[in-house]
Parts: sequence; structure tokens; C-alpha cells
Amino acid sequence: MTQPIPFIDLATQRDLIRERIEARLGRIMDQGSFIQGPEVAEFETALSAFSGMKETISCASGTDALLMPLMAWNIGPGDAVFVPSFTFAATAEVVGLTGATAVFVDVLPDTFNMDPAHLRRTVAAIASRGELRPRAIIAVDLFGQIADYAPIRATADEFGLKLISDAAQGFGSTRDGHLAGYWADVVATSFYPAKPLGCYGDGGAIQTDDEELAAILRSIRIHGSGSDKYDNVRLGLTARLDSFQAAVLNEKLPLFAGEIEARMRIAARYSEMLLGVAPQTIAGDVVSTWAQYTIRVPGGRRDAFMAAMKERGVPTVIYYGKGLHQQTAYRHFPVGGNGLPVTEALCGEVVSLPMHAYLSGETQDRIVQAVAESLSAVQVA
Ligand SMILES: Cc1ncc(COP(=O)(O)O)c(C=O)c1O
Repeated sequence: MTQPIPFIDLATQRDLIRERIEARLGRIMDQGSFIQGPEVAEFETALSAFSGMKETISCASGTDALLMPLMAWNIGPGDAVFVPSFTFAATAEVVGLTGATAVFVDVLPDTFNMDPAHLRRTVAAIASRGELRPRAIIAVDLFGQIADYAPIRATADEFGLKLISDAAQGFGSTRDGHLAGYWADVVATSFYPAKPLGCYGDGGAIQTDDEELAAILRSIRIHGSGSDKYDNVRLGLTARLDSFQAAVLNEKLPLFAGEIEARMRIAARYSEMLLGVAPQTIAGDVVSTWAQYTIRVPGGRRDAFMAAMKERGVPTVIYYGKGLHQQTAYRHFPVGGNGLPVTEALCGEVVSLPMHAYLSGETQDRIVQAVAESLSAVQVA
């Protein structure tokens, strides 16, 4: 019987580093350094070295990493934060949690990332209407590909807005050799296990070159504590990265650059071999972390395609079947002028194939063959 193909393989990497992780976990147990211990400090230093950013504030999840800067900037009721709708819920959820208004912006049909022209028009329209104060933009590095930050930064500067990179999927992605922090005030990432750099539970990190902001974020991370531990100077959270997760990340980070190279190779091979499909396009100067390899199956044939893939033992997943602006919790938030036609079209067509840094050529050949057979079975190609 042929081996079932996993959508993401975490086991191969785990087996490579298992003993070293277990030694670290044992040391934490021996020392009792469960909270803010040396593993956390080691990881923050290493992550700053990886990205060249001055400050790394590790935290409990990618969602906290997005929420905390909004809290630090006192974003709240009456404020507008511009976000794509074609993303995971957390991107807009954090805006709603502060009491501010998420304003949804469309994405581009080829890269699936925020459309800078639609963003500019939407910010200008909200600013001229005067009901909401434009305060920030959260751009998402979707499926691993860094957003097109130069024009997004220009809009942020023109309207005096903060810019957050939601790098939960694309941490480590570069454009023209620059990481997102070259343009963004803050880079927020997630270490959820399935992310390109993931731990074995929940975790996240914020990076910034702004030392003053970093001090506020460290305070928010621990209940808004002041210089005196029992004088809380602002509202905060319990948002620390725990030592066990930091230990896992300390073993995974040294592998990460090589894994991004492997993902680039595997994605290029998919793109060479897959005929008759439209994958997410990656600009020539971009290194993507390829959190997902996503194609479009048009003409209402996606469900039949996925069923045909399943029959051939290949799992596929839809990211995302509904834009956030179409979901119950977010329907009341405004969308940019003329609606979000690209987001809505993508939601009906996208489907992601198995993708991870340890995908063998042989398994990839099986997947590619299954795609070709499934497409012809549903008469797309
Ligand atoms: C784009 C995006 N933003 C934010 C998050 C939130 O991260 P977490 O699950 O660590 O809270 C995720 C992933 O889950 C994500 O994919």
C-alpha cells in the first residue's frame, strides 16, 4: 500500500532535533525556570540576530503579537485600522478587541497580498469622511510571501499611520533582500506548530527598532507592570512565551534559513511541473517562506477537484473559503469602496497542496501526478 501523504510533516524535523530539545526541557525542569527563564532570553537574542532588528519581545501567540502594539499605541473606539479580508481571523480580530474598527481592503489576484492602490483609495475615503480616525495598517505576508510594503509604507506616511507586518505565515520572507521590518514599524509573528517557524504549542514574537515601544510592549506582556512590580501603570495581558516553547524554538531557529531554501526549491519545482493551474505568483525579488503552496481551481470545480485528490491519497486544504468581511463576527465592519471582488473570487477557487521543507521529490511527483489526473477528471485542464 502506498504511504499516506501528510499535508505538513512535522515529524522529520522533530526526529532530527528531538534529543537536543529533550535535554533543554530537562534543564528547565531541573532549574524550575518555567517563566521568563534563560531559554526565553536566549531565543530573543537569537531572533534579533536572525532579523537584524534591535528589539524582540517574545509573547504567547501570534494574536497577542498583533494585539499588543495596537494597545501600546492606544488604538481604540473611533479609530480605523486597515486590514485585508483574505486572511486568518486574528488579523482583524485584534482590531475589534481594542474597540477600533477594522476596514477591509482587497488583495491582488496574482500575489493574494494587500492591494496597495485599493488601500490608498480606502484610507483617503475614510479620512475624508471624518467619522473614523485612520490610525494603522496591518498588512499580511500571506502564505509566506512578504507584502508589497514600499507603496503601503508610502500610504502610511502620507496619512500618519502605523504599519504592522502580520508575518505569522511569512516571517523570514524578504523582498529585494529586506525583511518586513525594513518598512513596518512592527513585525508580528506566530510560532503555532504548523507555521514555517513553529514551536510545540502556542507562541509568538514582536520585533521593532523602536526602543520606547519595546519597553511598553514588555510592560503590556506582564499586566502593564511598571518599574515597581506591584505598580501596574497600564492595562496589560498575561502574554509571555513559556520556557518550554522557547527551548523548542532555540533548536529550530538554526535550521530555519536552510528550510526556507528548501521550501523555495520545492515551490519552484511545483511551479515547473504543474501545468494548467494558476499558483500564487511570487515576485522575482521575493524569497517566500511558502507556508502554503496555493493554486486556483476555477469554474466551481474546486470541491470535485479536492474529492479527486483525496481519492488519490493527497490531502488539500482551503485557505480561505470566506473573506473575513463575509463572516458573522466581522460583517458589521466597513469594506473599501466598490467591495472586495478579488477576495470573493479567490475564496471560491483557492486550494493548498501539501507543502513543507522535508517534502521529497518522489512524494512531490505523486502529488503532481494526482493534480494532473484530478484536474482532467474535473475537466479543468
Ligand atoms: C495571518 C495570521 N495572523 C495571525 C495568526 C495568529 O497566530 P496565533 O495562532 O499564534 O495566535 C495566524 C495564525 O494562526 C495567521 O495565519
